[in-house]
Parts: sequence; C-alpha cells; structure tokens
Amino acid sequence: MSEANEANEPVEPVVDPYAEYEALRNHRPVSREEGGPWRVALYDDVRHVLKTHVDFSSEVSQRMQEEEGSTPTMLFTDPPAHDRLRGLVSRAFTPRQIAAQEDQITARCEALMADLASSPRGDLVTAFAAPLPVGVIATMLGVEDGDFVQFKRWSDTIFTDIGEILIGTPSPEAIAAGEEMSAYFLERIAELRRQPRSHLLSDLVYVDTDEGRLTDGELLMFCFLLLIAGNETTTSLIVGCTRVFHEMPETFARLQGSPELIPGFIEETLRFYSPFRATLRKATRDLEIAGQPIAQGDLVLPLIASANRDDRVFERADQFVIDRNPNPHLAFGLGIHSCLGATLARMEGRIAVASMLRHLEGITLCNPTDPELDGFGAPNSILVELQRAA
Ligand code: HEM
Repeated sequence: MSEANEANEPVEPVVDPYAEYEALRNHRPVSREEGGPWRVALYDDVRHVLKTHVDFSSEVSQRMQEEEGSTPTMLFTDPPAHDRLRGLVSRAFTPRQIAAQEDQITARCEALMADLASSPRGDLVTAFAAPLPVGVIATMLGVEDGDFVQFKRWSDTIFTDIGEILIGTPSPEAIAAGEEMSAYFLERIAELRRQPRSHLLSDLVYVDTDEGRLTDGELLMFCFLLLIAGNETTTSLIVGCTRVFHEMPETFARLQGSPELIPGFIEETLRFYSPFRATLRKATRDLEIAGQPIAQGDLVLPLIASANRDDRVFERADQFVIDRNPNPHLAFGLGIHSCLGATLARMEGRIAVASMLRHLEGITLCNPTDPELDGFGAPNSILVELQRAA
C-alpha cells in the first residue's frame, strides 16, 4: 500500500531494483509478467543471449522496420546489414580518433567542474554530467559553437521521448526535433562532401571500403545513434560515480591518495550501477533459456544490471570493491553489438572523476533516495552538496 505525503497525496514506495533483481535471480531467473518480455536475470544466461545473435535478434523496433524507406541503425539490425554498418563506422571511430578527444574532454570537465564547484550546492546533472557527453559528441560531429545550444535542445527533446521513438508513437515535439536535426546534419554532410574537415563526421563521410561508402541516410542514422547510445549512458556513469562517493566517502579519499585506482573504480562503478540496465532481443525460433521454453517472436530482456550483481560470478557482488580484479562485467554488452563507444565512455568517466578529485574534498547527494537515481535512463536533475578543495 502506498503512503501519503503532507499534502495527503499517495507516494509510491521507492523500489530498489537491485533487491528485485536478486529475487529474480534466486527464484525466477527467466520469467515474465503477463504480456511483457522474458526477463533474464542470471549472468550466464544474459551472456548467452547477448552472444547468440543468431537466436536472439536485435531487430526489435517494430516501428523502424515498418516505416517505409527508413534506414536501419546498427543497434537494431542483424547481420549482414549490421556487419556492413559496423565495419564502415569502425574505420572512422578508431582508437586514434578517440584518443584525440582527450584534450577537449579535459578542458570541458575542468570548465564545467570549476563552475559547479564555485557554489556549495548545485545540480550535478544539468551542470556537469549531461553537458559533458553532449559537448564531446557535438565536437566529434563538427557542430559549430553557434549551433551548440540548438543541438543540445534537439538531443534533449529526442531523449525525453526515446521509449516512444523506438517502440511507440513519438511526440510531435520529438518528430519536429528529429526533422530539424536531420536537415541540419544533411546540410553539414553535403558541405563535407565538398570539403573534408578534421572530425569524426568528416572521416565517416570519406570511409571507403569493399563494402562501399555510407549513404547520407546511414550517416544521419549514425549521428542519431551516437546521441541515443552515448549521452544518457555517460551521464548515468558520472551520476553512478557520485552516488558511490556519497554512499562510500572513503572511496573519494582513497582515489585522491591513489589516482592510479581511477580506471578500476570506473569499471566497478559500471558493474555496481550499470548505466545501460537492460537491452532487448527477439527470439528467432522456438528455443529454451535455462530450461524455460521461449516461443519464436517473443521479446527477451537481458538484465545487464542484474547479471553484474550475480554472486555466482562476482564475489561479494553487492559490495563495491574499488580494485576488483578480474571484473568481467557486462555493462558494455557483449558480442557483435558490444558498445562501440566503450573506450570513449571510459575516458570521459576517468577524466570527470579526476576533475572532481581536483576541485573537491567530497561530494554528497542532497536526496539520496531520489527515485530518479534508479529510474530508466539518466536522471534529469540531481542536487549535490560540494565540499570545495582549499
Ligand atoms: C557508460 C557509457 C556507456 C554504456 C554503459 C554503454 C552501453 C552500451 C551497451 C550495453 C550496448 C549494447 C546494446 C545491445 O547489445 O543491445 C551499447 C552499444 C552501443 N554503444 Fe554504448 N554505452 C556507453 C557509451 C557510449 C558512447 C559514449 C558511445 C558513442 C559515442 C556509444 C556508442 C554505442 C554504439 C554505436 C552502440 C551500438 C553498437 C552496435 O550495435 O554494434 N556508447 N552501448
């Protein structure tokens, strides 16, 4: 039964997703609610679903498949279309291209954190964790400074409606933002075809292999995919790190004394508070997962965040172990769709944390039970108190 607040309105109890995952792992490892997808909770089963793309298709977005003339995006396609797109994009999205972002990420983190840390209280998300990845991607796509505010507005509007965009009916605002952003990037792509520049989008325009080149539509879809796949998740990672600092302030002090622990801290945060909590697949034939029959066409939800807390694989799975090693978490997925931006995300996380450690003595959440912390996707706002470094 729900409680009531001072205004006597019902307040939904805060649901702890990790307690729910544990109950699923222990009692109903492959299960579903009436009409819902099959939730897969154990590490080995999640791993199996992610790896076995022949049995578990990524072509789950009904709307995208039905829309005439729509260009597929690699996240929602199977081979051979997926292999072609991933192969072409990987030629430009190289370790070198990503390493080249280090300076812009550091400069952004420093400016945003200096600003946030100038007050004793602020909004971690709107002032730091959200603008950072949007700014990084905008720069990689060659969005000019003057167009940045507009780009941020489009990406915010699209995010707000992402569930509907993928499997439902997008809002008129999201459709309009999508159309404006498409027109903007098509114009940029046409300019780049006339004159190359030195950024990721330009490199993508000029990728040329035996598989051919990326069409305007494919380039456009990739710009959207970077926004969808890359921004919310990176924002969530930074929020996750801050949540760890709040819940275990000793981690903050430990990293200040031993910054070489930062990469391991990021891995453990990815495991402990996985930003991409679950993904979706569709069974391509009648099959079984851990003995549970699944019918062809049924949707399957591999619970990445649950797999990452499975104590059959991770010792002391519900404890944050700053130097956990090995740490075979599935936060970036596995198999043919494993995250293309993992190196970039890790770098952003690492530099963001280093920046916090430089400017602050500590950081705490004003409302540690904020339901937004465990909501789907990144929170829109998280108030924090900042203990500024002397
Ligand atoms: C902490 C941050 C991030 C997390 C936790 C994350 C997680 C994931 C996961 C779990 C998948 C696989 C989804 C599936 O199998 O259905 C994925 C795919 C993908 N991610 Fe990330 N991601 C992050 C950041 C980024 C960034 C920064 C970018 C790019 C700028 C990016 C680009 C992509 C792309 C393009 C795919 C699709 C790959 C494919 O279908 O072959 N991600 N990500």
